[in-house]
Amino acid sequence: MANLTIRGARKAYGATVALSRGDFDLKEGEVHVLIGSNGSGKSTLCKIVSGSVRPDAGEVLIDGKPVSIDGPRAARALGIATFYQELSLAAHRTVAENIGLPELPGKGGIFVDRARLNAIAERHISRFADVAGEGFSADTRVEHLREDQRQLVEIMKALATEAPILIFDEPTSSLDRAQVERFFEILRELKAEGRAIVFISHRMDEIFSVGDRVTVIRDGETVGTSQISETNPANIIRQMVGETELAVTEGAPPATVEAKAEAVLSVAGLSGKGFAGVSFEVRRGEILGFGGLHGQGQSAVLRSIFGVSPAAAGSIRINREERAIRSPREAIRCGLAYVSGDRGRDGVVHGRPILENVTPIHFLRNRLSLVRPGSLRERAAKPLSALKTRFAGYEQPVNALSGGNQQKIVIARWLIDRPDVLLLDDPTKGIDLQAKADLFALIRSLAAEGMGIVLYSSEDAELLANADRILVFNSGSVSRELTGADRTRYNLYHAAYEAA
Ligand SMILES: Nc1ncnc2c1ncn2[C@@H]1O[C@H](COP(=O)(O)OP(=O)(O)OP(=O)(O)O)[C@@H](O)[C@H]1O
Ligand SMILES: [Mg+2]
Repeated sequence: MANLTIRGARKAYGATVALSRGDFDLKEGEVHVLIGSNGSGKSTLCKIVSGSVRPDAGEVLIDGKPVSIDGPRAARALGIATFYQELSLAAHRTVAENIGLPELPGKGGIFVDRARLNAIAERHISRFADVAGEGFSADTRVEHLREDQRQLVEIMKALATEAPILIFDEPTSSLDRAQVERFFEILRELKAEGRAIVFISHRMDEIFSVGDRVTVIRDGETVGTSQISETNPANIIRQMVGETELAVTEGAPPATVEAKAEAVLSVAGLSGKGFAGVSFEVRRGEILGFGGLHGQGQSAVLRSIFGVSPAAAGSIRINREERAIRSPREAIRCGLAYVSGDRGRDGVVHGRPILENVTPIHFLRNRLSLVRPGSLRERAAKPLSALKTRFAGYEQPVNALSGGNQQKIVIARWLIDRPDVLLLDDPTKGIDLQAKADLFALIRSLAAEGMGIVLYSSEDAELLANADRILVFNSGSVSRELTGADRTRYNLYHAAYEAA
């Protein structure tokens, strides 16, 4: 019972047509990749199958028989389990409870069979034990976990259902390489057992590593399906964007930053939780990259400079002036900006309108309490359109946007007032290829106007293509600096794995 067919699925939200003609067919024993730009309708298609969205038209068949999926319960009864892009975890519950509770009868009443719950959870936790990282255990409450660890829990929760049909909507966007590899090993096993798997990702390398077939969706319509072995990235991108060519710049030469350009940010001997003795300078016009394996201190350094968790030792100078930054509010007033790819923790305010989500920094920086909304709209329009953000109006609640478009809101809010230094903490998670290219073109032009930029990226290709200089992090310290012609994939890998 694992062949799923969707025909002519359609879903509109008011005037927004999220899906106009969704066709998809999933077979036993395959990993079927679904790919398309931000807002093209992937999550909507998944939600129709998982019962959390009712389609306006179309049909779903399992093993050739039409079925009615009128809610998540119905989907589960039909053998369909889903990893949700925006996650579906209970923050105040433990890892084990999130994984095991849905599988127990009675679901969280007083008479929970703890032994059984733990047995179910442990089976899945143990598979990821060596890649889950510090602070991860069966009894940790989900609210205390990092974004990658939450994604692992959402994966385990889906796996614990033992469902024959599994849908994974961007399960790897926050995972590091080792975590992704482990997940893929498990997917391959599930495939061998005859399960049917839908996999969504914006990362081309992942798609070719684990996929059997790929279906491309564009503007709410299925464009076509191919065997992975018979297609290539260029073909897929062409299908995703239609006739127009994708303007992805690869291996951009380092900008000719004037050696004499002044340092806009200087950090010396910075130490704190997860990093020690970090020193570097960023000059105006420069994009400084942070590389290395995930979780080697890159984010911790950025968050500490931004005053989220101030460093225990070291000094920070902005425009040559020494600053003691004890909170993000102070950081913003010193001319710093921080963009995180972690939407859950640092991102959007759910349920609030888009305008409110783009403008808080403007208020903070200018110490404003009253501004005409009209002028705010004008200011917000520029960065939003530079990033080609798809939205219907400023009053729309931000969660009505697709995941990638929400991330563009998070980025745009920092660009209404130009900061001196832009700290980018893995900013492109969940952003499609075209939007990434747009984002980096924008970053490049901001640098050219004199901003200093620090870019941490978990994607090596992104760093190599955009950073003028790369500091490789290892166990909380900078282990190597790559400049000029040394900025190669080989050197980056080598430096990252050297001491690890
Ligand atoms: N609840 C909602 N209300 C209004 N519009 C919505 C809602 N959910 C989705 N949309 C819109 O439907 C379109 C498709 O969204 P969907 O989430 O399916 O995209 P996606 O392909 O998953 O994108 P991403 O790669 O960014 O996750 C988008 O334009 C989005 O703004
Ligand atoms: Mg989505």
